[in-house]
Amino acid sequence: RWGLDTDWIGKSIVHKESTTSTQHIAHDEARNGASHGTIIIADEQTNGKGRMNRSWFSSKGKGMWLSMILRPRISPQQAPQLTLLTATVLADVLHAYCHVTPLIKWPNDILLNNKKTAGILTEMQAEQDIINYIVIGIGLNVNQSESELPEEIRHKATSLFIETEKEHSIKGLIQEILVAFEKAYDQFIKNGFPDVKRKWESYGFKIGEEITIKTLRDHFQATFLGIEEDGALRIKRMDGSTEKLYSAEIDWFDD
Ligand code: BTN
Repeated sequence: RWGLDTDWIGKSIVHKESTTSTQHIAHDEARNGASHGTIIIADEQTNGKGRMNRSWFSSKGKGMWLSMILRPRISPQQAPQLTLLTATVLADVLHAYCHVTPLIKWPNDILLNNKKTAGILTEMQAEQDIINYIVIGIGLNVNQSESELPEEIRHKATSLFIETEKEHSIKGLIQEILVAFEKAYDQFIKNGFPDVKRKWESYGFKIGEEITIKTLRDHFQATFLGIEEDGALRIKRMDGSTEKLYSAEIDWFDD
């Protein structure tokens, strides 16, 4: 029904017309033993989740609201690399399939025209340094017009429709993204992070530019150098010293 030409991803697809959050469904399915590559898709989410406890606006039939269950044999510390990989897959597909020029805002927001069109939420269940499963959720704004986006996010959010003035097939995007993800994932398991890092940096937003970093304790200006071999953020302080950050927030637009 989904017409997927893949080896392992999407062999099992759970499709809901409406659900609270595909992340919730994915966790339930994973706890009940769902296999590596199981996909949850919803036409609408009534309680879509974003990073940092934010909500994710997911109106009916207007976007791709999808979660993937993965059971990779990597260490929990490597899990963020899979999120960065997912962002590069999205950027590649949007570029090739929708002819737009995406940038990735660290760690994994997809920007078109400096506004967010997609976000990724990775959640992991691990015990004693062994991953049981990972759920990667992708939200992609596809066919919303500007007036269909909530007013409070209009200044920073966009959709493929707004940027291209064309409607795009959500089903087609799902197919392209899953096929590309499977390929990129298999390569990552085989060759590790270096290719992903290179790809990510080719899409990186504000690399080489000055940004504001917020940590728990302070905030400061620094130059964004790129990402490390393990996916961490690499910055250069104003005094010239370089640093590796694992859990920083970036004040991207100084707002
Ligand atoms: C973010 O940028 O904050 C991440 C947004 C992730 C949204 C997707 S939509 C599909 C999946 N289900 C959810 O509830 N969230 C993710």
